[in-house]
Amino acid sequence: MNEKDLYRKAKEALEHSYAPYSKFHVGAALLTSSGEVFTGVNVENSSFGGTICAERTAFVKAISEGFRDFTALAVTSSEGEVSPCGICRQFMYEFGDDLKIIMGADEEHLVVTKITELLPKGFRL
Ligand code: THU
Repeated sequence: MNEKDLYRKAKEALEHSYAPYSKFHVGAALLTSSGEVFTGVNVENSSFGGTICAERTAFVKAISEGFRDFTALAVTSSEGEVSPCGICRQFMYEFGDDLKIIMGADEEHLVVTKITELLPKGFRL
């Protein structure tokens, strides 16, 4: 699974986004070291603080299925390129320093970085 393939999975996931309040639809796809892909979408709530981002949805799905070793996460939105929010950066950092983050408005304009670029000196207990 290359960067474009993973990005496409994130794009496909967008259709399941539940974002009736912001109308900002986000899709993510998380690749495990053994090659599984877990997708995620943002799921909003009438009580806005109950909203979960697409990235964390993908992580929660994977971790609850027994996967903890990840190599890359792709994320995209209905409005083009999106950069993971601060909570998601810290959440992803929990599971390693080497995660590749793939962003971009479309598959021809991918922006590839690392979690430690997005979150230098992240918090760990
Ligand atoms: N959102 C994500 O899903 N991921 C991010 O990294 C940024 C924000 C969602 C949360 C909310 O449903 C909507 O985008 C607007 O903030």
